[in-house]
Amino acid sequence: MDKKVLCDMAISATNKAYSPYSNCKVGAALLSADGQVFTGCNIENASFSPTICAERTAFAKAVSEGVTKFSAIAIAAKKDGKLSTFTPCGVCRQVMSEFCSDDFTVLVVTGEDKFQEYTLSELLPASFKLD
Ligand code: THU
Repeated sequence: MDKKVLCDMAISATNKAYSPYSNCKVGAALLSADGQVFTGCNIENASFSPTICAERTAFAKAVSEGVTKFSAIAIAAKKDGKLSTFTPCGVCRQVMSEFCSDDFTVLVVTGEDKFQEYTLSELLPASFKLD
């Protein structure tokens, strides 16, 4: 799938964000190895710690449908209505490392028609895994 299309799906997913506390609207579009896309948004909570990031929402949707192999994820965020660069938090990086290989592609939207591209091993070197 075209990387820009995946980024545009992440931007669209920001519209679903439930984020009355931070006012940050985050969207993710997770591409499975067999070509399906699972979108996700951040879902906040008055108690704060139950908040789930957009990336983990997307992973939860995919894994709960039996899909566990992935090739890329795009992440977009809007703060006060404007695109803002959100690289994945540490918890989301760890969740990615559970299901994805070192060369998994992470696309971070940085503006209209612009994104930065990372591999998972760049974002989470020397990751923890149980053998
Ligand atoms: N957030 C995400 O959805 N993904 C990230 O990788 C970083 C942070 C959300 C959590 C919270 O709802 C808001 O952004 C502000 O931290």
